[in-house]
Amino acid sequence: MSRNVLVTGGASGIGLALARRFAPAGDRVILADLNDAAGQAMAKELGGSYRHLDVADESSVEANVAAIEDEIGAIDVLINSAGLLQNAAQTESFPLEEHDRIWAVNYRGSYLMCRACAPRMAKRGPKRGGGAILNIASINSFTPLPLPAYTPTKAAIGSLTGVLAGEFGPSGVRINAVAPGFTLTPAMQSRIDSGDRDPVGMEGLSTLGRLVKPEEVAEAGFFLCSDAASAITGVNLPVDCGYMAAISYNTYPS
Ligand SMILES: NC(=O)c1ccc[n+]([C@@H]2O[C@H](COP(=O)([O-])OP(=O)(O)OC[C@H]3O[C@@H](n4cnc5c(N)ncnc54)[C@H](O)[C@@H]3O)[C@@H](O)[C@H]2O)c1
Repeated sequence: MSRNVLVTGGASGIGLALARRFAPAGDRVILADLNDAAGQAMAKELGGSYRHLDVADESSVEANVAAIEDEIGAIDVLINSAGLLQNAAQTESFPLEEHDRIWAVNYRGSYLMCRACAPRMAKRGPKRGGGAILNIASINSFTPLPLPAYTPTKAAIGSLTGVLAGEFGPSGVRINAVAPGFTLTPAMQSRIDSGDRDPVGMEGLSTLGRLVKPEEVAEAGFFLCSDAASAITGVNLPVDCGYMAAISYNTYPS
């Protein structure tokens, strides 16, 4: 069955890599983003469609989800990749407006999207395969980095994934997350270019000694949304080049 796959943040980075994984598999991708020029261009390239959607805005989420289901059909897969990265900051000097914006997009945005889509999937039940949701968490779900807004949003997304998996599991809807390590997306590249991230330092923190590629996150996400993962729900799967495995090793001399 060709699935309708809605990808927030689909114009760039991990969201775009996921769309690029689903489209050749025969699925219909709907990219949703604030970056209209890139979103429209990528949707055209993938033979899909594009919607201007602000995940932090409840009315934008509700209107777009309703319109997609009216005009295209049931959303079978939801991918919540819209998100904002953060530079390292000290809590005392970190602007509260920036803190709140990161929470609004990363956590509340994922929550609003799940709230709009999961009940619709649940009502349809197993008729269309049950429905699947993929949240994009982070290694920050498990270990803290010096990012006083970003890190807690990703811990919360990991928690939300489990909460919703429990609520919607009886209706056959599966809800999982991937937890990428340092991934070379446009957002990460711009931080490297501005000197806010050190690529060599990040590479050295993973046991595989390199950054994650967006396509590697996409491959794991595609699996979690596929029938091959039909018994898997509520997990937050690290795709981190062994970042967490390497932590304790880095404390011993080699
Ligand atoms: N790059 C990494 O190292 C990394 C690691 C772990 C998790 N992540 C997560 O992956 C996700 C994607 O990040 P990325 O690195 O691909 O970034 P990116 O900037 O390349 O892509 C993010 C996309 O989200 C869109 N977006 C931002 N705010 C939005 C909003 N309010 N509504 C709709 N779209 C919006 C942007 O326009 C952009 O197209 C984020 O949730 C991020 O936290 C990234």
